[in-house]
Parts: sequence; C-alpha cells; structure tokens
Amino acid sequence: MQPKITATVACTDRQVGEVTRLIIDPLTQQISHVAIDAGGVDILAPAELIASVSEHEVRLRCTSAELGRFERLRRDDFVSIEEVEIPHLERRLHGVRPGEVLVPVPALEKDVTRRSFFTKFTAAIGAVLALPLAFPALRYIIDPMYLPFDNSWLKFGRIDALREPGVPQLLKFHKTVKEGFLTREFEKSHWAMRVSPELREKIYAEGDIEFRDANGEVVWTNSKEAEVVVFSGKCPHLGCAYRWRKHRTFGQTFICPCHLSIFDPAGKVLDGPSPRPLDVLPVKVAGNEIQIIDMEFKAGKAEQVRIV
Ligand code: FES
Repeated sequence: MQPKITATVACTDRQVGEVTRLIIDPLTQQISHVAIDAGGVDILAPAELIASVSEHEVRLRCTSAELGRFERLRRDDFVSIEEVEIPHLERRLHGVRPGEVLVPVPALEKDVTRRSFFTKFTAAIGAVLALPLAFPALRYIIDPMYLPFDNSWLKFGRIDALREPGVPQLLKFHKTVKEGFLTREFEKSHWAMRVSPELREKIYAEGDIEFRDANGEVVWTNSKEAEVVVFSGKCPHLGCAYRWRKHRTFGQTFICPCHLSIFDPAGKVLDGPSPRPLDVLPVKVAGNEIQIIDMEFKAGKAEQVRIV
C-alpha cells in the first residue's frame, strides 16, 4: 500500500508528524523516500524505514531521535512529476495532488535555476563590453562551423574488451576538437556490443546502415555482417547519458534516467519519449582494434540529422 499524503507518522517511541510528499526514484519508479513534516521541517525518511502502512498511519522502524538525523527536504533539488516526462508513473500513484510527488532533479539540470540569473547578468555585461572587438574574433570562431564534418576514424577500444554477444560495454575514448583558436581534448563514451544473430536481424531490419556527409555523400556503410555495433552514448531524446539496466517488465534494456526512455538491446524504443532508436555509429574492426567515426545527431527529432 502506498503511504497516503497527510497520513500520520509514528516512530517506535512516539508520533512525529505527517507525510507531506512522496519522492520517486525515476529509474525504478518506486517510492524512495517520504517527506515527513516533523514540527515545521520536512525530513526525508528512506522508504526502507517504513515498517507498515495503513490507511491513516505510516509506522517507521526507528526512533524519533534517529529520524531527526536524516536529511531535510531541499525543494530545489526536486521537481514535481508534472514537470518531467515519466511514462505511466501517474497510473501507479493514487490520490495525490500536483506537487505532492517529486523526483530528484537530474544531475545535468541541477543548479540551472539558481545560476541562471548570474549567467544572464554576466553575459549581458560581457556582450556590451566586447561588441567593438567581437567581429574579427567571431569570424575566426564561426568559420570552422562551416567546415565539413570530421569523418576521421578514431581508436575506440579493443575488441577483446567486449563480452559475449548481446552484452554491451561502455567504452571511453579521447577526442581532440579544434574550435576556432582552441584545441580541446575531452573524454567521451559510447556503448559497444558484439552482435548476436537475433540482434543482427533487428539492428539491420532495414538493410545495411549508411552514414552521410553534409552534402549527402555516403562516407561509410555498416554492413549486416559487422561483428560489432556501437550506439552513441547520448539519448536521442535530449542527449542524456543512458545506462544498461534490468527492467522489471522488459528485462535487460538501455534506460535513460532523465525522462525514462527505454530501449531494447538492439536500440529500438520500448517506452518513453525518445522519438527515435539509439543512434548507431560507423564502426569497423582492424585487427584487435575497434574504430569509429564519432558522429553526433540532433536530439529530439524522429529522423536522424547529423550535426557533428
Ligand atoms: Fe530524455 Fe533520455 S534525455 S529520455
């Protein structure tokens, strides 16, 4: 039974307050904490503390003194489930009103609101001061944006790092990017997997996969015979990093924690807001080495639009 909002909360020694909010883990879709108004402060009690739940009361297996040592609810660290897209969640929760069920703010988005004022303020001042100097510098920076895509092959990992077919592995690699006068090296990661016969049928259901340059010219074709498939590490919905997890309904899947898009091992969408399957990348195996062309595609689009 789900704890009811306004149900009274009793510790092992005394009654302490009432339930004000429920916190949901977006990955498991289970209640992870209950917020308890204990004398004017909202305390976040982990769900494991709940000993029993009845219509009007939640009993905890700790004393009131122990409960007082748990974290306070910091409202800015959570968003209401009305503000995020978590498929089917509302169907599983009953009798709650807007604002009573929260999920943690995804790490990527944390602090954006608090920072936004300062960011805008600094940007406005900077723009005014820099305007007279900006034009030559802007040209220098913008020109590379019109260069052709980089179709060079990068060393991605060793094939013996991959486990049995159908079990993906997150591989990290380093990429050097020249942006205007800056050269940056950064770490990226994509998912690589040996392909089993069933996965091959699903991944290549529409035939070999072609990759194109900005002018539409084919730069590489992943053939159905390829031993390895590589999925871009960015979720096609809004670009979050996704994980390989066991889902209670779908079994082993790729799950994106940001808005709960769920993909099968062939990258096809099983559930959630992603408008297209996971993006397959150009891959080839040379000796023991897996190589890729590190392409990126526009997030949130049903069709694949290459941007890098
Ligand atoms: Fe939204 Fe992945 S970024 S589901």
